[in-house]
Amino acid sequence: MKNILLTGGSGFIGTCFIRYLLKESDFTGRIVNVDKLTYAGNPENLIDIEKDFPERYVFIKADICDAAKMAGIFGKYQIDSVCHFAAESHVDRSIVKPDAFIQTNIMGTFNLLECCRSRLKDIVRFHHISTDEVYGSLGREGYFTENTPYKPNSPYSASKASSDHLVRAYHKTYGLPMTISNCSNNYGPYQFPEKLIPLIILNALEGKSLPVYGDGLNVRDWLFVRDHCTAIWTIMKNGKNGETYNVGGNIEMENIKIVEMICDILDETNRLNDNRIQFVKDRPGHDRRYAIDFTKLNQELNWSPEASLETGIRETIKWYVDNRRWVERVRSGEYQTWIKTHYI
Ligand code: NAD
Ligand code: DAU
Repeated sequence: MKNILLTGGSGFIGTCFIRYLLKESDFTGRIVNVDKLTYAGNPENLIDIEKDFPERYVFIKADICDAAKMAGIFGKYQIDSVCHFAAESHVDRSIVKPDAFIQTNIMGTFNLLECCRSRLKDIVRFHHISTDEVYGSLGREGYFTENTPYKPNSPYSASKASSDHLVRAYHKTYGLPMTISNCSNNYGPYQFPEKLIPLIILNALEGKSLPVYGDGLNVRDWLFVRDHCTAIWTIMKNGKNGETYNVGGNIEMENIKIVEMICDILDETNRLNDNRIQFVKDRPGHDRRYAIDFTKLNQELNWSPEASLETGIRETIKWYVDNRRWVERVRSGEYQTWIKTHYI
């Protein structure tokens, strides 16, 4: 892999992955970051990377749905591999307005696959970043494995499931070399503050109420974003062509417990500005529990997560406390509108 086309690199996980690849991993090639810069993409995340790695990092503002532009980028930069993060990623937004999810997550993925099909001999790997939400919801028992049937419940997860199927179909039909990772909930620096953990941290710091959907007993598996980055790179390098790998943190937690944990940590340093947990209207179709079995990735590729929830949450809180300017910048007019219309 000499020239990786990395889509959605200015979002949360993409930013962390680019930083990891260039600063910490053994990757020696070039990254071409193609990002449309939606509300979730922040070009400031990688300004230092642009300066520090002028030969190895290129940023292009583009929509993956723009077929002509994408074909041009593949040719100009001699792309030999793809790491596909770009997506609309927030479940609640997909419930309110699914259009962009269908467009970017399905049509955008299709477009990238077509670019690869037209230069199949040059492509050594298409790695597709996906989610455990494609498997649907679990009861009290059991785990998602790579063989769990797909049963997505939200427009977001249905669009991601569609994109997974397309990627696999291009492997079976055209021989595209590919891998897919289905990962649980990430948290860490640079996450847009519409998602549970950064939203709660910032609201708690600012003395706002802490909205918990339904009874707060929905369970998610949490993974510190750096551990997701090491998993992705491990799979890109050593994953078997045509295979899917589940990625998880082995940390199952009820939402209310995560909120309480954040409050307790902020309380230690007198940063908790009033604790007002508020149970609010539930998310429609809210998946009850996710839990992921990543034995395959662990046993075949020797990967396991390193961060404990406590160290990961502490590092995340510190990052949001230290980066107030970043927070103010991403809280654009569009973000304000989302908060005002969604949390009534
Ligand atoms: P994010 O919303 O923070 O970032 C998405 C990025 O994609 C943004 O930079 C945005 O500008 C860009 N983008 C959106 N539409 C685009 C388009 N049409 N063309 C080009 N760029 C576009 O998302 P994230 O949380 O970083 O998630 C990244 C990927 O990881 C997604 O595919 C998501 O489904 C998957 N994933 C996320 C999690 C999680 O917990 N966040 C867990 C598992 C999988
Ligand atoms: O499981 C992987 C998925 O994790 C990714 O594919 C998605 O891109 C990512 O957004 C995330 O989806 P969730 O819906 O699980 O994440 P979110 O942070 O939106 O919500 C986490 C849990 O917290 C969920 O049960 C809903 C609940 N919640 C969320 C918000 C925003 C609340 O109780 N209150 C809130 O205000």
